[in-house]
Amino acid sequence: MRANPHFQKLPAGYLFPEIGRRVRAYAAAHPAAKVIRLGIGDVTEPLAPAIVAAMHGAVDELARRETFRGYGPEQGYDFLVDAIRAHDYQAHGLDVAADEIFVSDGSKCDSGNLQELFAADAVIAVTDPVYPVYVDSNVMAGRTGAPDADGRYPGLVYLPATAANGFCPPPPEVMDAHGIDVVYLCSPNNPTGAVMTRDQLAAWVAWARAHQTLIVFDAAYEAYIQDPSLPRSIYELPGAREVAVELRSFSKRAGFTGVRCGFMVVPRELRATGAGGEEVSLHAMWSRRHTTKFTGASYVVQRGAAAVYTADGLAQTGAQIAFYMENARILRAGLARAGFSVYGGEHAPYIWLETPIRDGRRLTSWELFDLLLDKAHLVGTPGSGFGPAGEGYFRLSAFNSRDNVEEAVARLGRVFA
Ligand code: MLT
Repeated sequence: MRANPHFQKLPAGYLFPEIGRRVRAYAAAHPAAKVIRLGIGDVTEPLAPAIVAAMHGAVDELARRETFRGYGPEQGYDFLVDAIRAHDYQAHGLDVAADEIFVSDGSKCDSGNLQELFAADAVIAVTDPVYPVYVDSNVMAGRTGAPDADGRYPGLVYLPATAANGFCPPPPEVMDAHGIDVVYLCSPNNPTGAVMTRDQLAAWVAWARAHQTLIVFDAAYEAYIQDPSLPRSIYELPGAREVAVELRSFSKRAGFTGVRCGFMVVPRELRATGAGGEEVSLHAMWSRRHTTKFTGASYVVQRGAAAVYTADGLAQTGAQIAFYMENARILRAGLARAGFSVYGGEHAPYIWLETPIRDGRRLTSWELFDLLLDKAHLVGTPGSGFGPAGEGYFRLSAFNSRDNVEEAVARLGRVFA
């Protein structure tokens, strides 16, 4: 067969497996090193008891003939969809219909799969740095050229997220914006930890409405927002239902990185333009795609996800989030003491720091990666792995045990004394 040529444009390995490969090689060469991993944002706390009990109960149901279940509804069981609707939307005065919620096996898959709905030559805008899945999935689909020397893909519109704009780029100027079909926004942001204010998000919604652009709003980290005045859902902004889909995940909110469950909201009002200029419904398209290619998240997993919304589940997962946010506070404080410029980590489990200056020049992201691994046995994520504008930055994740976070801070203090 003839292979999809667009895969050749991608770097050889996806960012996190590549980091894992380097760390394994280092650990094999230095077996005595106690490596602390603050690289991939992977939760470390065990599942909350309310979730475990619900999953055990679901397994027991599947073990008995009278309560056994086979295929479930592709969009998700009512018990989970209704809980999502009530707690994540209606409780905040937002009206999302049950059939607008599509339960899935996580936001990574949803964000990668969604681009199947876009025209082959759709123009995609991404913030830079950015969660790599948005870019790579569009590269695979052939919407870009081969990357230039800086790693930028011709055909993509890059919106630099810099210290100057608080890592929340505004919508592009009207002239530049012409012809952008889709923009991916993530708030709280992976990797920078920045969070959009209501005014910033309102500006994006107004811009998208004016330019018939779809916003893919990734809210996978909304549970980490500490300030109630910050928007958790894009639907808090009037008019967003006509221009935005929203991704949510149980991964970081409830420790489901390995369990796998998330959902996407696709409002019925969303319209796109078909090949003949006619209006098409994105809800109908996504429904067709989802029911064709997905058979539903597993029953046991959905019972576990629904338990997140019980009183015990909310209290227990809330305590886990508070635990990780305290880790973030400790990391931020330790990094600041060690002389780093530190961003994020206040409404997100990620800390974004500027690489230090050594011998009169700023270290590259990968140089800091190597230095930290070698001198402190610490693993982080090089900012350049998230896009060219991430060069000179580095991401640390707050997902780890308290002992490891405190030890990491102590090591940073010694290396950068
Ligand atoms: C990350 O470290 O950026 C995340 O764990 C990636 C993901 O959620 O897929």
